[in-house]
Amino acid sequence: STEHKVDSVLALMTIDEKIGQLVQYSGKWNATGPSTSKRDQYKHDKLKKGEVGSMLNIASVASIRETQRIVMENSRLKIPLIFAYDVIHGYKTIFPIPLGESASWDLGIIEKSAAIAAKEAAASGLNWTFAPMIDVSRDARWGRIMEGSGEDTYLTTKIGVARINGFQGNDLSAAHTIAACAKHFVGYGFAEGGRDYNTVNIGEFELHNTILPPFKAASEVGVATFMNAFNDIDGIPATGHKYLQRDLLKKDWNWPGLMVSDWGSIGEMIAHGYARDLEHASEIAINAGSDMDMESYAYEASLKTLVEKGKVSTAILDDAVRRVLRLKFQLGLFDDPYKYCDEEREKADVYSKENLEIARDVAKKSIVLLKNDNQILPLSKKIKSIAVIGPLADDKDTPLGNWRARADYNSAVSLLEGVKHAVSKSTAIYYEKGIELTIPIVKPGENQFARPLEFNTTDSSGIEKAVELAKKVEVVLLAIGEDAYQTGEGRSQVDIGFKGLQLELLEAIQKVNKNIVIVLMNGRPMDLSRASEVAPTILECWHLGSESGNAIADVIFGDYNPSGKLPVSFPHHVGQEPLYYNQKNTGRPYGSTQVTYSSYRDAPRSALYPFGHGLSYTTFSYDNFKLSTTEINASEHIEVSVNVTNAGKRNGEEVVQLYIRDLVGSLVRPIKELKGFKKLMIKAGETKTVTFKINAETLQFYTANKKWEVEPGAFEVWVGGSSLAELKQSFSVVE
Ligand code: IFM
Repeated sequence: STEHKVDSVLALMTIDEKIGQLVQYSGKWNATGPSTSKRDQYKHDKLKKGEVGSMLNIASVASIRETQRIVMENSRLKIPLIFAYDVIHGYKTIFPIPLGESASWDLGIIEKSAAIAAKEAAASGLNWTFAPMIDVSRDARWGRIMEGSGEDTYLTTKIGVARINGFQGNDLSAAHTIAACAKHFVGYGFAEGGRDYNTVNIGEFELHNTILPPFKAASEVGVATFMNAFNDIDGIPATGHKYLQRDLLKKDWNWPGLMVSDWGSIGEMIAHGYARDLEHASEIAINAGSDMDMESYAYEASLKTLVEKGKVSTAILDDAVRRVLRLKFQLGLFDDPYKYCDEEREKADVYSKENLEIARDVAKKSIVLLKNDNQILPLSKKIKSIAVIGPLADDKDTPLGNWRARADYNSAVSLLEGVKHAVSKSTAIYYEKGIELTIPIVKPGENQFARPLEFNTTDSSGIEKAVELAKKVEVVLLAIGEDAYQTGEGRSQVDIGFKGLQLELLEAIQKVNKNIVIVLMNGRPMDLSRASEVAPTILECWHLGSESGNAIADVIFGDYNPSGKLPVSFPHHVGQEPLYYNQKNTGRPYGSTQVTYSSYRDAPRSALYPFGHGLSYTTFSYDNFKLSTTEINASEHIEVSVNVTNAGKRNGEEVVQLYIRDLVGSLVRPIKELKGFKKLMIKAGETKTVTFKINAETLQFYTANKKWEVEPGAFEVWVGGSSLAELKQSFSVVE
């Protein structure tokens, strides 16, 4: 068995070799040499000695084979390396950013997109991705909100599991699958003020009810690895959190996988003020359950001493090493360290026509029609003239978004290109950029972390030309929003509105042409309040990946009827953040003429575009909402059914959503919680009956008893096409 094999390798290892397996280096700066720096030379020597367990940031068969060879030809035990990379939304064929893809609410295509990403990454020699990010995140200011599935625990859980299944398939040793990584354990999405890496203050019950469930589900479906987090939670850095990593995840949940630290997060416990020095940081981290040290250089410097001093037991060290070896066996690397290194396969599987077609399908299904007053969309393909305007209109880079792995710079289909592909010669397509959004400071295509944001707030010289153009066309497609690197790690903002001169451009155009479709490209919920007043139509297009322009054109011209729904609330104002639909009621929920209820004096409490919202070119009506019974005990269930009718003239897909509320609990419960959804195609005029089951799994929560329980009492249940679902029924759970 694998465990016997692991033990037999472990028995051969010296303490230095064991510690080496817990070390992960980045090879971004040329690990294969010729060495350009002392650090590279150091890494190279460690590889030769067999004192490195894994490399990240090396990709392509040629460089991975070369790096693996250093270990296989020089080290004593020839334990193969695992090669990791941030394959977040595609490898070279880029899919929508995860937040955008989550708007599809389509678990099948989400799994498929992860499977394609895995296939491409594995064909390039990789074995492990640092995805999916399953941090529930409710704060639009946080730049990394683009990388998750939004604000809801249930949706994040379902999508996280789909992605893990897509990456890993059902056999980690298969040549086209890679190990997934559930990250960041835990709380990273709750950074105070939305400022990246910031403190997380979250109560025990909120932690269990809101943040941990996606991770529990990930452990249950066998995710191979977890990554811990940069933040502290209530004073304890996640990387050094023994209760969470060792006691809960590894013991209570009985998870056998590998915990990797985040980049430098072991060493950062010194800056947190939690560790005195690197040795102390290592002691805390390994005892807490951080198995692999990513780029802190802490374990290699101090674990041996710590074992000698008795501060780290051999059992703890061996447990961590076992987890690394286990994964290497599961991936089949001991059988053949070069099994993922096949240039022919790399050529055939990466960026293939077939993969791009799937990317287009996923992209069109991720688009959300936020607003379509006057039914401007879909446009007829017989339209005579269209102006495609805006700083992002012919941008071939922004749609790739942040964390675009190995995408070629400028390789996405722009909106302008997509529109041109879609129409015949009889339609005149005009283009004006209008304004520059950003002022390039660093060379385009450079390392994401090296690109400061600088917005153009002064040069409006192109607006006049754009206005002249807008005057002479039937419809304006205005591509505005956020640059590719405006979201992502370290990209928090206090202002989530349109940067630079984008609103000026919008308002100038609106004065001369009312038929404006805002084609919004962005990685976070934005403040769309002014844009919504001005423009009749807004199409949320996120950063949709390689096939962006084609997918947007599919929706604009009605070849595809939009079906996306928001996975996150869009506020009226940034001051509402964190904003999420499943808030608690408070003791003062009611509006009145007095000020003493929970509200803002200068903005609404509610979202401008709520969680679950998304329009279609048809309309769906809901009726005949029935419960099989209105009273159950905790071991029984209720069948919920509702008829959904496509009341319009086009076929379309609807995401039917089920929400519940537990009216009185041992802890205050949210006013609504998503507990089920089904996405289905309903033909024009057709009615489909949709059913859900409510059972203990739906109703339980982490109660004041510190257990997952169903508490007897009264519940409400809604069904509908968004979190504003109005069809409501009641039922109760009896002892
Ligand atoms: O995987 C990432 C993580 O999410 C943030 N810090 C760096 C890691 C490796 O690139």
